[in-house]
Amino acid sequence: MNSTSNHSHQREFELGDREFRFLASFLSRETGIILSDHKRQMVCGRLVKRLRALGIQDFTEYCAMLDGPKASAEIEHLVNAITTNITNFFREPHHFEHLRRQVLEPFAAASPRRRRLRIWSAGCSSGQEPYSIAMMIAETLKPADAWDALVLATDIDTNMLTRGANGVYTAEDAAQIPETYRKRFVRRIPSDPTHIQMGDELRRLIRFKRLNLHEQWPMKGPFDAIFCRNVAIYFDKPTQKKLFNRYCDMLSIGGMLYLGHAESLIGMNDRFEVSDKTVYRRIR
Ligand SMILES: C[S@@+](CC[C@H](N)C(=O)[O-])C[C@H]1O[C@@H](n2cnc3c(N)ncnc32)[C@H](O)[C@@H]1O
Repeated sequence: MNSTSNHSHQREFELGDREFRFLASFLSRETGIILSDHKRQMVCGRLVKRLRALGIQDFTEYCAMLDGPKASAEIEHLVNAITTNITNFFREPHHFEHLRRQVLEPFAAASPRRRRLRIWSAGCSSGQEPYSIAMMIAETLKPADAWDALVLATDIDTNMLTRGANGVYTAEDAAQIPETYRKRFVRRIPSDPTHIQMGDELRRLIRFKRLNLHEQWPMKGPFDAIFCRNVAIYFDKPTQKKLFNRYCDMLSIGGMLYLGHAESLIGMNDRFEVSDKTVYRRIR
C-alpha cells in the first residue's frame, strides 16, 4: 500500500486507545498473539479492508460486534487479517541440513521395522516450510513409498492453509529452492509461466490442517521433529514456556525442536538439550 492511501485510511478509520486495548486483549485470549502499542497502526491498516467488507463505520462498532453473538463467526477473519505470514522455502537453511543429518539419515539407516516418521510444521503459513521438509524427506528416504512418512502442517490462518494445500507459488518464490530440488519436485503450469506447482510426490507427504496452538491439540504424536519457527516470537514468555513444554510431550525421546533465529529455549525447559543453533533435542 502506498503512503497516500495509507494516510487516507488512517484518517477514515481511527483506532482509539480503548478499541486497540480491546482488540489486543481479545487476540491474546484467543490466540496467544501479543499486540504491543507500537503495532497499533499496523493493526489499523490490516483491519480496514475487513471493516469495509462488513460495511462497518468505525472500530467502536467492530469491537461491539466482537463482544456479541457474532464474535465466533468473526474470529477467523480477524485472525487471518492480523497474523504475520512471512515465510520462504528453505528459510534458515542450516535447519534443513540438520534435519537431514540428525533425523532423516539415522532414520533411513535404522532397522527396517522402524518405518514411521512424523514431522510437524506448527505455524506453517503458506506452506513453504512443510514443502521444504517434504523435499528433504523425498530426497533422503528412497524409495519414498516404502516409508510411512508424513508432515503435519498446521496454522491458525485459513487463507494460508488454502495456499499451502494448493501448492501454487510464484516463479520468484520458487527461485529460493535449490536448483536440483526445483528440477525434481517443481512442475511448470503451461497456462501460466509466472507460477509453478509443487509435484504430487511432495503433496502426498503433507497434510494441511487448521490448528490454533493456544487451544487443545487433537494429535497424539509422537513426532520425530517439530518445526515451530518464527511463531512463538508473537507470544509472551509464559505462553512460550507452556507451548515448548507441550511440544516436548509431543516429541519422542531424542526428537528435535526447531525454533526461529530470534527464539530460544535456554532457561525455559530442562527437558531439552541444545543440539545446534536454535535446534533442541528432547532428552526426558
Ligand atoms: C511468520 S509465520 C512463520 C512461518 C514459518 N514457520 C517460517 O518460519 O517461515 C508465523 C505463522 O504463525 C501463525 N500463528 C500465529 N499464531 C498462531 C496460533 N495461535 N496458532 C497457530 N498458528 C499461529 C501465523 O498465522 C503465521 O502463519
